[in-house]
Amino acid sequence: MIYLPIELLKPGMVVARAVESYSDSFSLPLLNKGQILTDSIIRRLVSRNIHGCFIDTDFTKDIEPGCIIAPALKKKTISGVKKVFDEVLVEKKVSKESMRLVLEISEELVLQILENEELLIDLQNYDNYTYRHSLSVAVFSIAIGHKLQYSTSLLMQLATSALLHDLGKTDVPIEIINKPGRLTEEEYEIIKQHPQMAVNRLKEGGHVSDLVLNSILNHHERYNGTGYPKGLSEIDIPVYGRILAVADVYDALTSFRPYRRPWYPDAAIDYIRNYKGIYFDPAIVDVFTNIVVPYPVGTMVELSNGCPAIVIRNNVDKMRPVLRMFNVDDDTPFREVDLMNDAEFENIRITSLGYNSNIVDYNSFIVQPEMDYDTGTINS
Ligand SMILES: [Fe+2]
Repeated sequence: MIYLPIELLKPGMVVARAVESYSDSFSLPLLNKGQILTDSIIRRLVSRNIHGCFIDTDFTKDIEPGCIIAPALKKKTISGVKKVFDEVLVEKKVSKESMRLVLEISEELVLQILENEELLIDLQNYDNYTYRHSLSVAVFSIAIGHKLQYSTSLLMQLATSALLHDLGKTDVPIEIINKPGRLTEEEYEIIKQHPQMAVNRLKEGGHVSDLVLNSILNHHERYNGTGYPKGLSEIDIPVYGRILAVADVYDALTSFRPYRRPWYPDAAIDYIRNYKGIYFDPAIVDVFTNIVVPYPVGTMVELSNGCPAIVIRNNVDKMRPVLRMFNVDDDTPFREVDLMNDAEFENIRITSLGYNSNIVDYNSFIVQPEMDYDTGTINS
């Protein structure tokens, strides 16, 4: 399968991996595996802020991007977090039963991530932002904590902090959260209260450790002291807060937001690197950039020789994965190249994600004749 951003999806392409929406009702399936895209389906994806999906083509059938979290646990996590947020909206606190569910999910996430030996985090965020963001921040935070050799019980607390880090946003008017333009000073002041609001709501219900409360309180602090709520700097910021900060910003950048397109992973990694020692703890940035994959399996890249290629496997050197090049010449429709080991490609590097390449004919990814799938008639 290959990942295509929404603007390249065309009627007649076949969906390779299901996409679900979790925003307004429990796990609403938007796309099913094997479904053929139509104009109206694509329009629905746009309206749901879905920014792309995996599709199947003849020459990418065998490419199978990893799934760091099994679909069932992903579903359980997202619906669990949604349940807690909904509860806080009404009850203004988190019940004992909900906290038990969050702890159970935290444990399952930690155990599942620890099974991943290479610990390369290859997340393609195409479901919509709400609640899924908490899961992604948890995955990145657990992976960073594991590399820092934290015990399982500490990783579980880190996971809980990540799952609930934005709980205080239930106290922020939705118009401010989703505001497309720049926030006014007053609106920003309200946003800045959400870490403390989360702590208040969690304290109200009890059953949460000080470690979790402190991590949540400090997830918007910046290494140079320009963050909030207290403007703490460097090691005065509790280490979990420093971990959550990196995971939170990376996932926010790579997710669709109402006011901008998602950044591709390579650009978001550059951003995190550029602010190393400024917004982010340098040691945590180093760990993070070691585990996160800039060119996930199934994405299209462009090489310095101008050729497009699809990532089929990641290498220890994540900047030099194994690629499948296509349209090499008439006799060689595809060719596999290991950028780490192929001498011929020694001086070739990946310059960017390759979706802007005009060499690729995306119409060739359409598996069905062009027809109006909404009415079932063939277009002439
Ligand atoms: Fe936040």
